[in-house]
Amino acid sequence: MNFELKTSTLAGLAQEKSDAAIVLVANGFQAPKGVLGAWMTKAIQAKALDTATGKVLSVYELPGLAAPRAAFAGVGVASAKDVRSALTAALTPLKSSALKKLTVAFAGDADEASVRAAVAALYDAFYAYTTTKSKAEKQHLQKVTLLVPNASACQTAFDRAVAIGEGALVAREWANRPANHATPTLLGKAAQHLAKGTRMHCEVLGPKEVAKLGMGSFMAVAQGSAEPLQFIVLRYQGAAKTQAPTVLVGKGITFDSGGISIKPAPEMDEMKFDMSGAASVLGTFKALSVLKPAINVVGLIPACENLPSSTAVKPGDVVTSMNGTTIEILNTDAEGRLVLCDALTYAERFNPSAVVDIATLTGACVIALGAVRSGVFSSDDGLANELLAAGTQAQDLGWRMPLDDEYADGLKSNFADVANVAGRPGGAITAAKFLHRFAAKYPWAHIDIAGTAWKGGAAKGATGRPVGMLVEFLLGRVQVK
Ligand code: BES
Ligand code: MN
Ligand code: ZN
Repeated sequence: MNFELKTSTLAGLAQEKSDAAIVLVANGFQAPKGVLGAWMTKAIQAKALDTATGKVLSVYELPGLAAPRAAFAGVGVASAKDVRSALTAALTPLKSSALKKLTVAFAGDADEASVRAAVAALYDAFYAYTTTKSKAEKQHLQKVTLLVPNASACQTAFDRAVAIGEGALVAREWANRPANHATPTLLGKAAQHLAKGTRMHCEVLGPKEVAKLGMGSFMAVAQGSAEPLQFIVLRYQGAAKTQAPTVLVGKGITFDSGGISIKPAPEMDEMKFDMSGAASVLGTFKALSVLKPAINVVGLIPACENLPSSTAVKPGDVVTSMNGTTIEILNTDAEGRLVLCDALTYAERFNPSAVVDIATLTGACVIALGAVRSGVFSSDDGLANELLAAGTQAQDLGWRMPLDDEYADGLKSNFADVANVAGRPGGAITAAKFLHRFAAKYPWAHIDIAGTAWKGGAAKGATGRPVGMLVEFLLGRVQVK
């Protein structure tokens, strides 16, 4: 989509040629001179136009306004949250219309946060999944112009939001694709396609290379499926080769049936989203290709299916991970940690400044935090704070979770160095403690996105989270020497 930020007053908006205009109006709106402003003041006085968040007044062919359709949306105090929800409400009736050009204008002041919120709402509204529909509705929208009183003050925030929007589209698209249209092999091809951009490089390792590396834990998860596993290594080089990279590791289970510890049938289809961590890494690399920041980033994606079959790993089987740790697989449905632990060991070779893994890891995290905040685990306070602050900046929130050593007590095994599950209590934390064992050699954080990566029910679909948090986090590291 073509997005543009422009400086304009209300008088400028009146002249702007587009199919529809949305005007965001905050509490205490002070009309500038001109016909449109006077009309708005009158409408507010008559209580036809309400500046409370979510209230929308729609009009057609308003005299003096170039756009035939217009909606005046209340944004309350114009916080980022207000702008996002108000714009989402105003956009809903426009989604089905054959809109080609849309103008969105702030009637009053706009700051960086509200501009970012507006861009995020626009990207959210105009993405529609079509890939596996035979009669896909056509997407008509070609151009969106955002009008603010002072574009130069908001340009950087706008550019970031657009890059994050583009990245989130990539993440949503891949997460949404059904498992038979998003196999490990297809994910590898998508990564290779992304890497065609400048400063990008991609290597995809297949079963033979992974066996040679000794990734016995990852291989154990993949062995029940006829679909070959892939280990994707993406690199973005924006800084000197000597600068230590930040490594992102995305869980890429393209379908999680649970394996021999099979999941119940209801909602099992949603386990096609179990590669949302991988999708967020792909989306983050898309954003890097747009912004080209001066930083080095490595993306690692262990991708495979988790299926039951006569070749599948069985409860009680003991496997040897890449770093030599033996693991008793008590529950084959705790497979995310099994693929991630080998990727965490592989990450050591980059001498990383930090490693962050992103995973739809536990149902327990959904119980703990719901769909609002992602779980952020880190043994490093600085790293945890970077991620949480980035989440706030990008309006993609996280919440810090604990990592006390006592949480690892339940992972003891009589037959291996460690078991892959503990009991039900604190399930999101015990999973993180399992990963912690494999991440001792660098500052590490783990983001559990099981509750935030997709929505169920009627609005079933991927959210693109936490691309915003990740991109903002990486941009924040550009300054850190
Ligand atoms: N992919 C799931 C986690 C998940 C479940 C995410 C539901 C979103 C919604 C993961 O592989 C899994 O199955 N985890 C198990 C771990 C358990 C066996 C210790 C879980 O959470 O039930
Ligand atoms: Mn599972
Ligand atoms: Zn899983």
